[in-house]
Amino acid sequence: MDLSTSYLGISLPHPLVPGASPLADDLDTVKQLEDAGAAAIVLRSLFEEQITREQEATQIHLESHDDSFAEAVSYFPSPESFVLGPEEYLNHLRRVKQSVRIPVIASLNGMTPGGWLSYAHLIEQAGADALELNVYHAATDLETSGTEVERQTIAMLREVKRGLKIPVAAKLFPFFTAFAHFALQLDAAGADGLVLFNRFYDVDIDIKELDVLRTLHLSDSSELPLRLRGIAALAGRVKASLAVTGGVHTAVDVVKSTMAGAHVTQMVSALLKNGPGYLRKVRADLEAWMEENEWSSLNEMRGNMSQERVPNPNVYGRANYMLMLQSWERV
Ligand SMILES: Cc1cc2nc3c(=O)[nH]c(=O)nc-3n(C[C@H](O)[C@H](O)[C@H](O)COP(=O)(O)O)c2cc1C
Repeated sequence: MDLSTSYLGISLPHPLVPGASPLADDLDTVKQLEDAGAAAIVLRSLFEEQITREQEATQIHLESHDDSFAEAVSYFPSPESFVLGPEEYLNHLRRVKQSVRIPVIASLNGMTPGGWLSYAHLIEQAGADALELNVYHAATDLETSGTEVERQTIAMLREVKRGLKIPVAAKLFPFFTAFAHFALQLDAAGADGLVLFNRFYDVDIDIKELDVLRTLHLSDSSELPLRLRGIAALAGRVKASLAVTGGVHTAVDVVKSTMAGAHVTQMVSALLKNGPGYLRKVRADLEAWMEENEWSSLNEMRGNMSQERVPNPNVYGRANYMLMLQSWERV
């Protein structure tokens, strides 16, 4: 059974990759994931705010004793809220690289172009095989247009890519007005991969305490279809390789993602719920499913359900929408 794939120009034995999360915080867990057959591993993110804060603090310390900086950053989580500070991140990356043989993908997370992105070079020097650039932009600013959000994201990618040798994947939200067009621009700007989609972490309101509540729910497979649609729209149309993140829990989810056109399926919630060894089960289930359904390789099914290859590409658009609404029957 041939499960091999290529992602960001890196050959992988299969597409199962633990995604960015606390899973790679602990070296023992990282080794367990490698033993369970992880094809590569993505580290948690280092955030723009962490790097900028450190860079600005150094600058201000050198130049003045200005209080305005302290005021400006007081709404951000304190440095102690982060599991890894910027320097610790690099050290952790070096340690992970030393302990496993699988490719290690680091992650930078931010929303504006700027000096903080130079950290990509330190990440490269620390030994990362690739970089994921997570662009988490809530876009709630009344003055910032969709075009501007796209422009900033493309500028970030260009800035990261400048002089960097390792490949870069952009991890995106689904909420761009014309997502496929925007993805094509990222492709043209040199994205080696696109990771679809960031989850939008909901906030709720505590009506008694008048506070905003944070709850991190793990996903289930019902989150996958949104990703399938995004991947299916791009497969065969962009040079960048494609990764699914969000809702991959079973071998069937991997098959669907591959049929949509994904090169890699990242898993986080499934591994946090079931432990690193669950990867082994998903891989065994995948092989069993392929055997039963007479597929000898993932490559032959990759993209066979993409928008470009289905007989009626409109099934991903208004045709399905209209039929779906008409199909409702009162029970
Ligand atoms: C506890 C936790 C921490 C996460 N940390 C990061 C992170 O640091 N950077 C990032 O890009 N994504 C992060 N994610 C998002 C995951 O990489 C992934 O995109 C998301 O959980 C959807 O995949 P899933 O359905 O397999 O969980 C985190 C997710 C969880 C549950």
